[in-house]
Amino acid sequence: MGRLNGKVAVITGGVRGMGAVHAQRFVAEGASVVLTDLLKDEGDALAARPGEKACFVVHDVSNAAGWDALVETAQEAFGPVTVLVNNAGVGQGTPLLDTTEAEYRRIVDINQVGVFLGMKAVIPSMRRAGGGSIVNISSAAGLVGIPGGIAYNASKFAVRGMTKTVAAELASEGIRANSVHPGYIVTPMTEEYGFSLDHPAVRNTPMRRAAQPEEVTGLVVYLASDESSFSTGAEFVDGGNTAV
Ligand SMILES: NC(=O)c1ccc[n+]([C@@H]2O[C@H](COP(=O)([O-])OP(=O)(O)OC[C@H]3O[C@@H](n4cnc5c(N)ncnc54)[C@H](O)[C@@H]3O)[C@@H](O)[C@H]2O)c1
Repeated sequence: MGRLNGKVAVITGGVRGMGAVHAQRFVAEGASVVLTDLLKDEGDALAARPGEKACFVVHDVSNAAGWDALVETAQEAFGPVTVLVNNAGVGQGTPLLDTTEAEYRRIVDINQVGVFLGMKAVIPSMRRAGGGSIVNISSAAGLVGIPGGIAYNASKFAVRGMTKTVAAELASEGIRANSVHPGYIVTPMTEEYGFSLDHPAVRNTPMRRAAQPEEVTGLVVYLASDESSFSTGAEFVDGGNTAV
């Protein structure tokens, strides 16, 4: 018996990095999964695996109309949405004075406004289902500052705050919301931005190592499942990144 049997999950940014690992594990745990991303070819290939309860929708999380269409697709394919993993995000590697206003707004639009739009779009479906779980992927950078991440930091702190608002507003309806704050995880994002094991996020981590995506997935499965039925508005951090 899977830990996510009967769940209908939307996972954004589900084509590569942590999102792809979450999606595969969700399917293995019995969930029906709609994964979304900008990367069409890779997404089609992932969702085409025979026998799996998964489909792929091309979607930009900063597009409000796209969110409504996505929820409709999910409902038609599998029924009301009961889990939303707001995972899609973009990184940053520029100090404050080199960050243009356009770049700042682009990052906030995806990492922060995308999470706002996603929660708004999915909650009516969760209400129809009689409850649900929202897992918002923030970052250790949603708890402490990181050099070269002025917009990223702002967006991830916002995700942490929005999660608590929604948790407080919807607890009485059986809709939970928690935020996940990974430290340094080895993914295409960290490779793209040229972070290294000498990055402060690794150096300052008591474990003195980066993590693999699978080490975050276990937590996301737990938060999506009924095992975490008394967890809402909480922050989960790994690696002890902000413990010191
Ligand atoms: N890797 C880390 O060390 C780390 C640490 C803390 C938090 N995070 C967060 O975890 C999440 C996943 O990160 P990752 O490292 O797996 O990144 P990744 O770049 O490997 O994967 C992110 C996915 O999101 C997609 N995406 C980007 N913009 C999008 C948009 N506008 N609409 C839809 N999809 C979009 C990308 O195409 C990609 O498939 C992000 O929110 C990131 O900020 C990552």
